[in-house]
Amino acid sequence: MANNPRLGAYKSESDLAEATIRLGPNPSLAQVKQFLYPTEADVIEQVITDQYALYRGDCVQVLRGIPDNSIHCSVSSWPFCSLYSYTDAVEDFSNIRTREDFFKGIDFLLSELHRVMMPGRIVATHCMQIPLTNERDGVIGLYDFRGDIIRAYEKHGFVYHSEVCIWKDPLIAATRTHAIGLAHKQLVKDSAMCRQGIPDYLVVMRKRGANPEPVSHFPAGLDRWIGPDSAEPIAEKSSHPGLNKYSHEVWQRYASPVWFDINPSDTLQRQSAREDEDSRHICPLQLTVIRRALELWSNPGDVVFDPFGGIGSTGYVAIQEGRRAVMSELKESYFNQMTRNMANAVASRPQQDMFTGALGLTLS
Ligand SMILES: C[S@@+](CC[C@H](N)C(=O)[O-])C[C@H]1O[C@@H](n2cnc3c(N)ncnc32)[C@H](O)[C@@H]1O
Repeated sequence: MANNPRLGAYKSESDLAEATIRLGPNPSLAQVKQFLYPTEADVIEQVITDQYALYRGDCVQVLRGIPDNSIHCSVSSWPFCSLYSYTDAVEDFSNIRTREDFFKGIDFLLSELHRVMMPGRIVATHCMQIPLTNERDGVIGLYDFRGDIIRAYEKHGFVYHSEVCIWKDPLIAATRTHAIGLAHKQLVKDSAMCRQGIPDYLVVMRKRGANPEPVSHFPAGLDRWIGPDSAEPIAEKSSHPGLNKYSHEVWQRYASPVWFDINPSDTLQRQSAREDEDSRHICPLQLTVIRRALELWSNPGDVVFDPFGGIGSTGYVAIQEGRRAVMSELKESYFNQMTRNMANAVASRPQQDMFTGALGLTLS
């Protein structure tokens, strides 16, 4: 993968309008200067191999260096204001204080993401609805983050293509969060305030237009199961698509609107639990979710992009699955962990799956 020429380049004064929006109403002079003229340490680090490109920097800047229509698939989970602040960097989306300003900032990301995506291809975003609390929001309830994500994508021309609801155990959530709406004692007292557990979602958007490179499962459909061994279909495989009951059954499970079989601890964080505290990620994506997404919406050799790379879950699975990966991440400790995870993914990939020869890379 080639270097991204945009990184390390100073922004021009004309970027002031963007700074005004992304930094919120009253940024300090120091914040504006840092945003407009980032130092090398803010954006310059890149790790480039023939299979992946990792950039430490603002994803919007990274996207600006990526050519039109060159990304085959994107799988990510977004940061969000009020959930958790990852860094004190001014470009960090988790530091934007209001929903309105957050989505104004996201507009810059999505207009670039739309430009770089290949027509007819998929952008999948992992998210959850956000609980409102009395202390922070003055009311107990839910904020429809998922809905706002869909509308933000639609504003930039993406089609609302599909979504998966990922089941989560309400008992585990009750024990961890002590949410009153999940407590049995609240059921006894006044169940009008009881609510369901909050699942994860994979929101699936598509760039309009004809897909020039079909994602084909030729000749007979799906020949493996991604999920817990105990749930693998036992139906017979066949090389004839109409007779391949195994593929039909696997597909029925993936096509289910609810995935009940995602293990919440099937994450890279678990695998890198011995790393230092700061590089432990608080909400990494489940690897099985990424693997199914890449099985359904990308071909081997495709370029997969995650703007909010974290510790590298999407890229890690992409490499294991014989795809290539482009990842950006602001936080240095996560970026370093991502770099290690990506190298491990290459090292652990079965030799016969490795690419050889020229990859026809398109990044400039
Ligand atoms: C929800 S986490 C993503 C986790 C990731 N999917 C994983 O499994 O490790 C969001 C990430 O976005 C990063 N981030 C926030 N603002 C960013 C920006 N402007 N550019 C790049 N990364 C950013 C945060 O540091 C955080 O690691």
